[in-house]
Amino acid sequence: MGRAGGVRVLLLTLPVLTLAGCGGDQSTLSPASPQEHKISVLFWVMLAVAWAGFALVVGLIVLGWVHRRKRGLPLGGGEKAGTALVIGLGVVMPIVLLTALFVYSDIFVINSTAAPDPSSTQRRIEIVGHQWFWEARYAGTDAVTANDIHIPAGVRVLVVARTADVIHSFWVPRLNRKIDLIPGQRNTVLLEASEPGIYRGQCVEFCGLQHANMAQNVYADPPARFRTWLAHEAEPARAPTTGQERRGQEVFMAATCDGCHAIRGTSADGHIGPDLTHVGAREGLAGLALTNTHENMLRWIDDPQSIKPGSKMPDLHLSRDDLRSVVAYLESLE
Ligand code: CUA
Repeated sequence: MGRAGGVRVLLLTLPVLTLAGCGGDQSTLSPASPQEHKISVLFWVMLAVAWAGFALVVGLIVLGWVHRRKRGLPLGGGEKAGTALVIGLGVVMPIVLLTALFVYSDIFVINSTAAPDPSSTQRRIEIVGHQWFWEARYAGTDAVTANDIHIPAGVRVLVVARTADVIHSFWVPRLNRKIDLIPGQRNTVLLEASEPGIYRGQCVEFCGLQHANMAQNVYADPPARFRTWLAHEAEPARAPTTGQERRGQEVFMAATCDGCHAIRGTSADGHIGPDLTHVGAREGLAGLALTNTHENMLRWIDDPQSIKPGSKMPDLHLSRDDLRSVVAYLESLE
Protein backbone atom coordinates (compact mmCIF):
# COMPACT_ATOMS: atom_id res chain seq x y z
CA MET A 1 0.00 0.00 0.00
CA GLY A 2 1.42 3.39 -1.03
CA ARG A 3 1.34 6.55 1.01
CA ALA A 4 -1.96 7.69 -0.58
CA GLY A 5 -3.48 4.32 0.27
CA GLY A 6 -2.39 4.65 3.89
CA VAL A 7 -3.91 8.12 4.10
CA ARG A 8 -7.17 6.77 2.65
CA VAL A 9 -7.34 4.00 5.25
CA LEU A 10 -6.65 6.57 7.96
CA LEU A 11 -9.40 8.82 6.61
CA LEU A 12 -11.84 5.93 6.51
CA THR A 13 -10.91 4.83 10.01
CA LEU A 14 -11.00 8.23 11.68
CA PRO A 15 -14.74 8.95 11.31
CA VAL A 16 -15.52 5.45 12.59
CA LEU A 17 -13.31 6.01 15.64
CA THR A 18 -14.78 9.47 16.16
CA LEU A 19 -18.33 8.13 15.96
CA ALA A 20 -17.46 5.28 18.30
CA GLY A 21 -15.94 7.74 20.74
CA CYS A 22 -18.81 10.21 20.85
CA GLY A 23 -21.39 7.64 21.82
CA GLY A 24 -22.35 9.16 25.18
CA ASP A 25 -25.83 9.04 23.76
CA GLN A 26 -26.00 5.37 22.73
CA SER A 27 -22.89 3.85 24.25
CA THR A 28 -23.01 0.58 26.15
CA LEU A 29 -19.90 1.80 27.97
CA SER A 30 -21.66 4.70 29.71
CA PRO A 31 -24.16 2.63 31.69
CA ALA A 32 -27.19 4.31 33.26
CA SER A 33 -28.76 1.28 34.95
CA PRO A 34 -27.60 -1.52 37.30
CA GLN A 35 -28.07 -4.05 34.46
CA GLU A 36 -26.02 -2.09 31.93
CA HIS A 37 -23.37 -1.52 34.57
CA LYS A 38 -22.92 -5.31 34.82
CA ILE A 39 -22.77 -5.55 31.02
CA SER A 40 -20.09 -2.87 30.73
CA VAL A 41 -18.01 -4.54 33.49
CA LEU A 42 -18.40 -7.81 31.57
CA PHE A 43 -17.05 -6.08 28.46
CA TRP A 44 -13.94 -4.80 30.28
CA VAL A 45 -13.31 -8.18 31.95
CA MET A 46 -13.58 -9.99 28.59
CA LEU A 47 -11.31 -7.40 26.97
CA ALA A 48 -8.73 -7.68 29.78
CA VAL A 49 -8.68 -11.49 29.60
CA ALA A 50 -8.41 -11.39 25.81
CA TRP A 51 -5.50 -8.94 25.98
CA ALA A 52 -3.77 -11.03 28.68
CA GLY A 53 -4.15 -14.15 26.51
CA PHE A 54 -2.85 -12.28 23.46
CA ALA A 55 0.13 -10.94 25.43
CA LEU A 56 0.95 -14.44 26.68
CA VAL A 57 0.89 -15.91 23.16
CA VAL A 58 2.99 -13.08 21.72
CA GLY A 59 5.40 -13.40 24.67
CA LEU A 60 5.85 -17.16 24.04
CA ILE A 61 6.42 -16.58 20.32
CA VAL A 62 9.08 -13.94 21.04
CA LEU A 63 10.71 -16.22 23.64
CA GLY A 64 10.78 -19.07 21.11
CA TRP A 65 12.29 -16.82 18.44
CA VAL A 66 15.02 -15.52 20.78
CA HIS A 67 15.75 -19.10 21.85
CA ARG A 68 15.57 -20.57 18.33
CA ARG A 69 19.23 -21.64 18.00
CA LYS A 70 19.43 -23.40 21.40
CA ARG A 71 18.22 -26.85 22.41
CA GLY A 72 15.64 -27.52 25.17
CA LEU A 73 13.18 -25.13 26.75
CA PRO A 74 14.12 -21.48 27.27
CA LEU A 75 13.74 -21.76 31.04
CA GLY A 76 15.32 -25.22 31.27
CA GLY A 77 13.70 -28.64 31.56
CA GLY A 78 13.48 -31.55 29.18
CA GLU A 79 10.79 -33.19 27.05
CA LYS A 80 8.57 -33.93 30.08
CA ALA A 81 8.48 -30.29 31.07
CA GLY A 82 7.63 -29.40 27.44
CA THR A 83 4.67 -31.80 27.39
CA ALA A 84 3.47 -30.47 30.75
CA LEU A 85 3.72 -26.91 29.40
CA VAL A 86 1.67 -27.75 26.29
CA ILE A 87 -1.03 -29.54 28.32
CA GLY A 88 -1.09 -26.86 31.01
CA LEU A 89 -1.18 -23.78 28.79
CA GLY A 90 -2.84 -25.34 25.75
CA VAL A 91 -5.53 -27.54 27.31
CA VAL A 92 -6.07 -27.02 31.03
CA MET A 93 -5.82 -23.22 31.11
CA PRO A 94 -8.26 -22.57 28.19
CA ILE A 95 -10.80 -25.02 29.65
CA VAL A 96 -10.65 -23.44 33.12
CA LEU A 97 -10.65 -19.87 31.80
CA LEU A 98 -13.41 -20.34 29.20
CA THR A 99 -15.59 -22.23 31.68
CA ALA A 100 -15.17 -19.44 34.24
CA LEU A 101 -16.01 -16.77 31.62
CA PHE A 102 -19.00 -18.77 30.42
CA VAL A 103 -20.43 -19.10 33.93
CA TYR A 104 -19.80 -15.41 34.64
CA SER A 105 -21.21 -14.05 31.36
CA ASP A 106 -23.89 -16.49 30.23
CA ILE A 107 -25.17 -17.49 33.65
CA PHE A 108 -24.59 -14.61 36.09
CA VAL A 109 -24.76 -11.53 33.87
CA ILE A 110 -27.40 -12.70 31.40
CA ASN A 111 -29.67 -14.00 34.15
CA SER A 112 -29.41 -10.86 36.22
CA THR A 113 -30.19 -8.63 33.23
CA ALA A 114 -32.90 -10.81 31.70
CA ALA A 115 -35.00 -12.74 34.18
CA PRO A 116 -36.80 -10.21 36.33
CA ASP A 117 -37.97 -11.00 39.81
CA PRO A 118 -41.74 -10.59 39.31
CA SER A 119 -42.33 -9.39 42.88
CA SER A 120 -39.97 -6.45 42.48
CA THR A 121 -41.18 -5.45 39.03
CA GLN A 122 -43.69 -2.74 39.67
CA ARG A 123 -44.48 -1.69 36.15
CA ARG A 124 -45.03 -3.40 32.87
CA ILE A 125 -44.85 -1.84 29.43
CA GLU A 126 -45.79 -3.68 26.28
CA ILE A 127 -43.60 -2.74 23.32
CA VAL A 128 -44.85 -3.60 19.85
CA GLY A 129 -42.48 -3.27 16.91
CA HIS A 130 -43.97 -2.04 13.64
CA GLN A 131 -42.48 -1.21 10.26
CA TRP A 132 -41.29 1.43 11.27
CA PHE A 133 -42.13 2.74 14.68
CA TRP A 134 -42.33 1.58 18.28
CA GLU A 135 -45.69 1.32 20.00
CA ALA A 136 -45.68 1.42 23.81
CA ARG A 137 -48.68 0.32 25.89
CA TYR A 138 -48.79 0.88 29.62
CA ALA A 139 -50.31 -2.08 31.48
CA GLY A 140 -53.33 -1.27 33.62
CA THR A 141 -54.04 1.99 31.74
CA ASP A 142 -55.30 3.05 28.32
CA ALA A 143 -52.12 4.97 27.58
CA VAL A 144 -50.50 4.24 24.22
CA THR A 145 -47.55 6.17 22.81
CA ALA A 146 -45.19 5.84 19.89
CA ASN A 147 -41.38 6.17 19.95
CA ASP A 148 -41.43 8.39 23.08
CA ILE A 149 -41.39 5.83 25.88
CA HIS A 150 -41.64 7.08 29.45
CA ILE A 151 -40.56 5.14 32.54
CA PRO A 152 -40.15 6.17 36.17
CA ALA A 153 -36.48 6.58 37.15
CA GLY A 154 -35.15 4.20 39.78
CA VAL A 155 -37.95 1.68 39.24
CA ARG A 156 -37.68 -1.75 37.67
CA VAL A 157 -39.91 -1.71 34.59
CA LEU A 158 -40.59 -4.96 32.79
CA VAL A 159 -40.74 -4.58 29.01
CA VAL A 160 -42.73 -7.30 27.26
CA ALA A 161 -41.95 -7.05 23.56
CA ARG A 162 -43.66 -8.46 20.51
CA THR A 163 -43.85 -7.57 16.84
CA ALA A 164 -46.78 -6.71 14.61
CA ASP A 165 -44.95 -7.74 11.43
CA VAL A 166 -41.29 -8.73 10.89
CA ILE A 167 -38.37 -9.27 13.28
CA HIS A 168 -37.18 -6.10 15.00
CA SER A 169 -34.74 -5.71 17.87
CA PHE A 170 -35.29 -3.40 20.83
CA TRP A 171 -32.16 -1.85 22.29
CA VAL A 172 -31.52 1.07 24.57
CA PRO A 173 -27.74 0.70 24.93
CA ARG A 174 -27.33 2.70 28.15
CA LEU A 175 -30.09 0.77 29.94
CA ASN A 176 -29.84 -2.91 29.02
CA ARG A 177 -28.99 -5.50 26.42
CA LYS A 178 -30.98 -5.93 23.21
CA ILE A 179 -33.93 -8.25 22.75
CA ASP A 180 -35.33 -9.48 19.47
CA LEU A 181 -39.01 -9.10 18.66
CA ILE A 182 -39.92 -12.39 17.01
CA PRO A 183 -43.28 -13.07 15.34
CA GLY A 184 -45.44 -15.29 17.56
CA GLN A 185 -43.26 -14.82 20.62
CA ARG A 186 -42.97 -12.45 23.58
CA ASN A 187 -39.54 -11.55 24.93
CA THR A 188 -38.80 -9.55 28.04
CA VAL A 189 -36.14 -7.17 29.26
CA LEU A 190 -35.81 -4.87 32.25
CA LEU A 191 -35.48 -1.10 32.04
CA GLU A 192 -34.25 0.44 35.27
CA ALA A 193 -32.72 3.88 34.79
CA SER A 194 -30.71 4.94 37.84
CA GLU A 195 -31.12 8.65 37.09
CA PRO A 196 -33.75 10.72 35.29
CA GLY A 197 -32.71 11.40 31.71
CA ILE A 198 -33.33 10.66 28.06
CA TYR A 199 -31.90 7.40 26.74
CA ARG A 200 -31.93 6.90 23.00
CA GLY A 201 -32.39 3.55 21.36
CA GLN A 202 -32.59 2.20 17.85
CA CYS A 203 -33.94 -0.89 16.12
CA VAL A 204 -30.96 -3.22 15.68
CA GLU A 205 -32.35 -5.88 13.35
CA PHE A 206 -32.65 -5.00 9.68
CA CYS A 207 -36.41 -4.83 9.16
CA GLY A 208 -36.87 -3.22 5.77
CA LEU A 209 -36.38 0.02 3.92
CA GLN A 210 -36.75 2.36 6.90
CA HIS A 211 -34.94 0.24 9.49
CA ALA A 212 -32.58 3.17 10.15
CA ASN A 213 -35.54 5.44 10.90
CA MET A 214 -36.89 3.28 13.69
CA ALA A 215 -35.58 4.93 16.83
CA GLN A 216 -36.99 5.44 20.28
CA ASN A 217 -36.30 7.74 23.18
CA VAL A 218 -36.78 6.39 26.69
CA TYR A 219 -37.59 9.23 29.06
CA ALA A 220 -36.80 8.29 32.66
CA ASP A 221 -38.87 10.77 34.66
CA PRO A 222 -38.82 11.37 38.41
CA PRO A 223 -41.60 9.04 39.70
CA ALA A 224 -44.05 11.82 40.62
CA ARG A 225 -43.71 13.42 37.19
CA PHE A 226 -44.08 10.01 35.57
CA ARG A 227 -47.37 9.39 37.38
CA THR A 228 -48.71 12.77 36.22
CA TRP A 229 -47.57 12.06 32.67
CA LEU A 230 -49.15 8.58 32.65
CA ALA A 231 -52.46 9.82 34.08
CA HIS A 232 -52.62 12.47 31.34
CA GLU A 233 -51.54 10.05 28.61
CA ALA A 234 -54.29 7.61 29.64
CA GLU A 235 -56.99 10.25 29.15
CA PRO A 236 -58.91 10.45 25.88
CA ALA A 237 -58.03 13.14 23.39
CA ARG A 238 -59.00 16.73 23.99
CA ALA A 239 -61.93 17.87 21.83
CA PRO A 240 -61.17 20.47 19.14
CA THR A 241 -61.88 24.03 20.30
CA THR A 242 -61.21 26.39 17.38
CA GLY A 243 -62.92 26.34 14.00
CA GLN A 244 -59.67 25.28 12.31
CA GLU A 245 -59.19 22.38 14.74
CA ARG A 246 -62.79 21.21 14.19
CA ARG A 247 -62.23 21.39 10.44
CA GLY A 248 -58.98 19.45 10.92
CA GLN A 249 -60.80 16.68 12.78
CA GLU A 250 -63.40 16.43 9.97
CA VAL A 251 -60.67 16.23 7.34
CA PHE A 252 -58.82 13.61 9.42
CA MET A 253 -61.89 11.37 9.45
CA ALA A 254 -62.94 12.10 5.84
CA ALA A 255 -59.46 11.54 4.40
CA THR A 256 -59.47 8.09 6.07
CA CYS A 257 -56.55 8.85 8.41
CA ASP A 258 -58.78 7.15 10.99
CA GLY A 259 -58.40 3.84 9.14
CA CYS A 260 -54.75 3.62 10.24
CA HIS A 261 -54.57 5.79 13.36
CA ALA A 262 -56.43 5.71 16.66
CA ILE A 263 -57.40 8.85 18.56
CA ARG A 264 -58.98 7.71 21.80
CA GLY A 265 -62.25 9.50 22.49
CA THR A 266 -63.10 9.79 18.78
CA SER A 267 -64.29 7.28 16.19
CA ALA A 268 -60.70 6.91 14.86
CA ASP A 269 -59.63 3.39 15.79
CA GLY A 270 -56.98 2.25 13.28
CA HIS A 271 -54.01 0.20 14.40
CA ILE A 272 -51.62 0.32 11.44
CA GLY A 273 -49.96 3.60 12.36
CA PRO A 274 -49.23 5.18 15.75
CA ASP A 275 -51.93 6.12 18.25
CA LEU A 276 -52.26 9.91 17.93
CA THR A 277 -54.30 10.65 21.06
CA HIS A 278 -51.55 12.87 22.51
CA VAL A 279 -49.34 13.30 19.43
CA GLY A 280 -49.03 17.04 20.04
CA ALA A 281 -47.04 16.38 23.22
CA ARG A 282 -44.50 14.08 21.58
CA GLU A 283 -40.93 15.10 20.83
CA GLY A 284 -40.52 13.08 17.64
CA LEU A 285 -42.45 12.01 14.57
CA ALA A 286 -42.07 9.11 12.13
CA GLY A 287 -39.90 6.85 14.30
CA LEU A 288 -37.86 9.94 15.34
CA ALA A 289 -36.96 10.65 11.73
CA LEU A 290 -38.31 14.15 12.45
CA THR A 291 -38.58 16.35 15.52
CA ASN A 292 -42.17 17.30 16.21
CA THR A 293 -42.26 20.90 14.98
CA HIS A 294 -45.04 22.69 13.11
CA GLU A 295 -43.00 22.78 9.90
CA ASN A 296 -42.07 19.08 10.13
CA MET A 297 -45.65 18.01 10.82
CA LEU A 298 -46.76 19.88 7.67
CA ARG A 299 -43.96 18.32 5.59
CA TRP A 300 -44.61 14.84 6.94
CA ILE A 301 -48.35 14.78 6.23
CA ASP A 302 -47.92 16.59 2.91
CA ASP A 303 -45.35 14.19 1.45
CA PRO A 304 -44.48 11.27 3.74
CA GLN A 305 -42.91 9.20 0.96
CA SER A 306 -40.21 11.79 0.31
CA ILE A 307 -39.24 11.72 4.00
CA LYS A 308 -39.67 8.01 4.70
CA PRO A 309 -39.88 6.11 1.39
CA GLY A 310 -41.66 2.80 1.79
CA SER A 311 -43.55 3.79 4.94
CA LYS A 312 -47.24 2.88 5.09
CA MET A 313 -48.24 6.53 5.33
CA PRO A 314 -49.70 7.56 1.95
CA ASP A 315 -49.76 10.98 0.36
CA LEU A 316 -53.41 12.01 0.72
CA HIS A 317 -53.17 14.96 -1.68
CA LEU A 318 -54.80 17.31 0.80
CA SER A 319 -55.39 20.91 -0.21
CA ARG A 320 -53.17 23.49 1.52
CA ASP A 321 -56.09 24.57 3.72
CA ASP A 322 -57.05 21.03 4.71
CA LEU A 323 -53.41 20.22 5.46
CA ARG A 324 -53.09 23.24 7.77
CA SER A 325 -56.35 22.31 9.52
CA VAL A 326 -55.24 18.71 10.11
CA VAL A 327 -51.92 19.92 11.50
CA ALA A 328 -53.70 22.43 13.77
CA TYR A 329 -55.94 19.62 15.04
CA LEU A 330 -53.07 17.17 15.65
CA GLU A 331 -50.98 19.84 17.37
CA SER A 332 -53.89 20.53 19.71
CA LEU A 333 -53.80 16.89 20.87
CA GLU A 334 -51.39 17.45 23.73
CU1 CUA B 1 -37.24 -2.46 13.08
CU2 CUA B 1 -35.07 -2.54 12.18
